[in-house]
Amino acid sequence: MIPRIPDQAPFSREQRAWLNGFFAGLYSVQAVDGLVPDAPAPPTRSVTVLFGSQTGTAEGLARKTVNALKAQGFAASACELDTMTPADLVDVHHLLVITSTYGDGEMPDNAQIFWEALSAEDAPRLEQTAFAVCALGDSSYPDFCQAGKDIDARLEALGARRLFPRADCDIDYEAVFAGWLEGVCEALNVPSGDGALV
Ligand SMILES: Cc1cc2nc3c(=O)[nH]c(=O)nc-3n(C[C@H](O)[C@H](O)[C@H](O)COP(=O)(O)O)c2cc1C
Repeated sequence: MIPRIPDQAPFSREQRAWLNGFFAGLYSVQAVDGLVPDAPAPPTRSVTVLFGSQTGTAEGLARKTVNALKAQGFAASACELDTMTPADLVDVHHLLVITSTYGDGEMPDNAQIFWEALSAEDAPRLEQTAFAVCALGDSSYPDFCQAGKDIDARLEALGARRLFPRADCDIDYEAVFAGWLEGVCEALNVPSGDGALV
């Protein structure tokens, strides 16, 4: 009889699937030849990186972020904010958002549909999500980094947990961005006991 983790046990869906797979493998080998196998490799830690970018700066930083995460063993991919809906984020455990601001404190073109849905009254709760935002802007504008500030505040209001404080990058963004990325990588590498490593 192979034990199974009950649905109401305090694990995420991915953790439960991994543990059930582990038990199935362990018991099948024991049944065949009495051997106990080595523990399987832990599940890959995955991070979703979303960007909003008008002229490519935030997109470039999103791709740098993905490369840095991959070098640390995370599964990571970058895509435009508008390719996701808030409902898609419900099962995302680790979310990084890198966005510039356009117009007068508005979202760039490829983040407007996402923002409309995220700021809607019926946006889903995101209690499983840990997030960090890197905002790009120019402090000569009155609404400095407003798009990133808005997304950061809205994710928190929807119950998501801030993994690392928002960075507000001015036109000389390199040092601030590098500090943010370093802090995010450190935060992601600390197991929190609530599914942070899934
Ligand atoms: C037409 C225009 C409007 C902008 N409006 C703002 C703004 O309201 N607030 C801000 O902080 N930055 C503003 N910026 C600056 C951009 O957010 C900044 O240059 C950013 O690094 C661009 O990143 P991207 O190439 O990823 O779009 C504006 C830039 C332009 C060209």
